[in-house]
Amino acid sequence: MKNISRRKFVKDSVKTVAVASIVTPLLSSEGYAWPVAFQFSQVTLPYPYAALEPHIDALTMEIHYTKHHAAYVKNVNEAIVTEKISYENEKEFFDHASKLSSKVKNNMGGAWNHNFFWQVMKPNGGGMPSGKIGEAISGSFGSFDKFKEEFTKAAMTRFGSGWAWLVKHEGKLKIGSTPNQDNPMMDHSELKGTPLLGLDVWEHAYYLKYQNKRNEYVANWWSLVNWEEAAKRLG
Ligand SMILES: [Fe+2]
Repeated sequence: MKNISRRKFVKDSVKTVAVASIVTPLLSSEGYAWPVAFQFSQVTLPYPYAALEPHIDALTMEIHYTKHHAAYVKNVNEAIVTEKISYENEKEFFDHASKLSSKVKNNMGGAWNHNFFWQVMKPNGGGMPSGKIGEAISGSFGSFDKFKEEFTKAAMTRFGSGWAWLVKHEGKLKIGSTPNQDNPMMDHSELKGTPLLGLDVWEHAYYLKYQNKRNEYVANWWSLVNWEEAAKRLG
């Protein structure tokens, strides 16, 4: 390469890297820039770690948020870069969940599901929902007690790790559960719909305080439900 053309090559390369670094600050594992279209994020916890005591203890909350949830977010974002995934929003990711690697699928579910979980709980929550959501629950399940019974059953019968959900699907409310970090918005999920409530029944959500007694954790969780958030999602 002649001197002039070498100089031009170097100059153009610098220009390309400079433009790429404006598009994205992230580098793939190979060390070159990839135009990342979307990254998952972790919501700020809406309350202190101890705020859900005595039903969920502060240490469980801290580990759950700073270790488990943070790891899902970090892992999915790394995988988006290394696997060069160009979906632009959560919906595109969930619509194509069955085509994604286990690493992306599991970690994007973990990222989204926990963001949702923190928001549908609050200190001094629970009680009977009123207004439109209260009516929708009574209309769909017969009564609030029947709804609680059915949701509790979904949470208790989910074998291993997973989530129990209240969803709205085609104008109706439904209860069900998903395994691992799947959720009802993923294309391969048997339970489909827009989540209104979600309950994490992984052991990491309750084991420190409740050990094997998932039933007590689920029973106490009703005192934390943020019905205002569920109502917002009902539309
Ligand atoms: Fe969890």
